[in-house]
This record gives sequence, C-alpha cells and structure tokens, in this order.
Amino acid sequence: MAIRPILRLGNPLLRQRSMEVDAVDTPDIRDLIADMFDTMEAADGAGLAAIQIGVPLRVMIFGIEANARYPEVEPIPITVLVNPKSNVLDDTKIGGWEGCLSVPGMRGYVERFSRIRYSGIDQYGNLVEREVDGFHARVFQHEFDHLEGVLYPDLIKDPLKFGFEEELSLNS
Ligand code: NI
Repeated sequence: MAIRPILRLGNPLLRQRSMEVDAVDTPDIRDLIADMFDTMEAADGAGLAAIQIGVPLRVMIFGIEANARYPEVEPIPITVLVNPKSNVLDDTKIGGWEGCLSVPGMRGYVERFSRIRYSGIDQYGNLVEREVDGFHARVFQHEFDHLEGVLYPDLIKDPLKFGFEEELSLNS
C-alpha cells in the first residue's frame, strides 16, 4: 500500500463533514485503511482520520503501543472505526495537551469529556463498542472531530497554551 500526503491546517478539505461508509468489505475501503495505517506509522502518529489524506469518509484509526521509553503513556488498542458514534458518560471535562498530524510540530491545550462510550464497525464488519476514559477518550474525541471538520486548535481556550512543541513548557 502507500504512504499518502497528510493535509495540513488551512486546507479546506479538512473542514468538510465526512460521509457515512455504505460497506466496509470493499477493495476501496480495505485499501484506504491500509494506506491510513502506512501513513500514520510513517508519521509516528497516534491517530488518523480519512479526511487527513483527502478522503471524506467516516473512517478513523488510532492506537498506541506500550513503549518502555514513555511509561507514562497509556497504551490504546490499535483500532479501526467506520461510521463511529459516541455518547458522553461523564460530562466533566479534563484539559490535556494534543497534537495532530495535520498541525505538525505544534501542541495545544484542549478540554475533552472525561468518560465516553463509543462504537463503530471495524475493518471486518464487526461491531466495536467500548467505554473509555482518560487519554483513550481524548484520542477518540480528537479523531471524531476530524469527521466533523473540526481541528483541535478550534477548541483552545487559552492562546498561551498553543504553540510549537519545542518552544512550549508542557508541564502545565
Ligand atoms: Ni488530528
């Protein structure tokens, strides 16, 4: 498969609402998901939505493997979600630093719901349904926003908590 160019903030395609997928068991969708994994891994990302490679379909992937170098990072199972849905289980919001492959080199401090339930169809057509919190919930909400044309900088409340990763002090 192929590593595809990642659209960056400012590209109007990132602002469109992605469309529902009719069937996952097609060569086009299989190829799309394979390209998304190749692209995400090449960019060392934790998640990617199809629109970030220019395909306006409701497909997202995410996942973080345990890494001995970053023991504080909570692993997330490698996940494919087509036509995802979610609902909020705890409307408390928690702030945290986020990055995005479409906003390279930058980080911003964004509030997300602390606990959610999400569901979707995986690449095999099976239902995936989980209740998650913490960073896992944050990653889902970030990727879901891409399907709605929303990027994390839209959600930043304090402009001082947005900037280049190399310049920021991320401990706050
Ligand atoms: Ni993103």
